[in-house]
Amino acid sequence: MTSSLSPQPSVSPRVCVIGAGKVGSTLAQRILEKNLANVVLLDVVEGLPQGIALDLLQAKGLEVHDRQIVGTNDYVETANADIVVITAGFPRQPGMNRDDLIGMNAKIVAEAAQKAIAYSPNALLIVVTNPLDVMTYVAWHATQLPSERVMGMAGVLDAARLQTFIAMELGVAIADVSTMVLGGHGDLMLPLPRYCTVRGVPLRELLDAEAIARLMERTRNGGAELVQLFKKGGAYFAPASAACQMIGAILRDRSNLLPAAAYLQGEYGLKDVFIGVPCRLGNKGIEKIIELQLHDRELAELHASAKSVRKNVEIALKVLAE
Ligand code: NAI
Ligand code: 2OP
Repeated sequence: MTSSLSPQPSVSPRVCVIGAGKVGSTLAQRILEKNLANVVLLDVVEGLPQGIALDLLQAKGLEVHDRQIVGTNDYVETANADIVVITAGFPRQPGMNRDDLIGMNAKIVAEAAQKAIAYSPNALLIVVTNPLDVMTYVAWHATQLPSERVMGMAGVLDAARLQTFIAMELGVAIADVSTMVLGGHGDLMLPLPRYCTVRGVPLRELLDAEAIARLMERTRNGGAELVQLFKKGGAYFAPASAACQMIGAILRDRSNLLPAAAYLQGEYGLKDVFIGVPCRLGNKGIEKIIELQLHDRELAELHASAKSVRKNVEIALKVLAE
């Protein structure tokens, strides 16, 4: 079942979003309304992606953009995508942490990645489903794509949350605040105050240690704070914006320096793990992993986060082997 559409302009890039839930549907909206690409939205639930596609098409004349969207339950329709984004799977509920989702989401992500890449063998793959760093490994493992073509979205979101909290605390324009968050997208994530500035002014010259520690902790709990407020499911507006920023960097070949879950092969003294690090993103995917000169304590925290991700990857691979 596919929603009807007018013909696609041949020059438009094509993004396949798998999972038409809150994050996937909001991301589809962002991509269209920023005029970035045509979208194919896929979900297992019949009627859901078709309905969202039709609803978004009915907004096209009001939002004024040039892009098309198809909603489908069939991977054939996703063929020849430039980017595949996986948002399919369960979000956490109050009382759960992201790692509690491994058993529910590993098979969904492995199957979605394999099917989508079978129809779009040249695509880049962006994983959003949680637990993020583990699911990114699962998608890479399932597809065997070159590692620079596979990445996870979390650092852009976590850095945007920290940016928000700093701007709110200081009462400054959010665009003046620059932040960096490394590590896994979980309790051991690593917001880095040394790399936070307001128009180039180091954060430590503007806030005392207690305030900085409070904002870092709020960032680590940024997802859980929203799960508590929503009571059901998690954040989706900012996650969709964060994924869209990565898509824009890739499609427009901007070489933006953004934190993303990337496959490490010795960088930061870590191997065979996907974890959040600063990357240069362009149309080939992860063009370069930037190695920051971390202090010993920061590096130890990054390694602790990687250790936890590795342990959960082992659990996920066992689930897939069952
Ligand atoms: P949701 O429940 O609103 O949507 C998930 C969608 O996936 C549903 O429509 C469901 O039908 C679909 N789905 C399930 N199995 C599928 C399959 N095999 N193939 C295709 N579609 C399938 O959840 P929401 O809020 O959109 O979150 C999606 C995922 O993204 C969750 O795992 C959540 O934790 C994660 N997330 C990650 C963030 C990050 O920073 N990396 C931020 C926000 C959410
Ligand atoms: C978040 O951080 C749930 O991972 C998701 O909002």
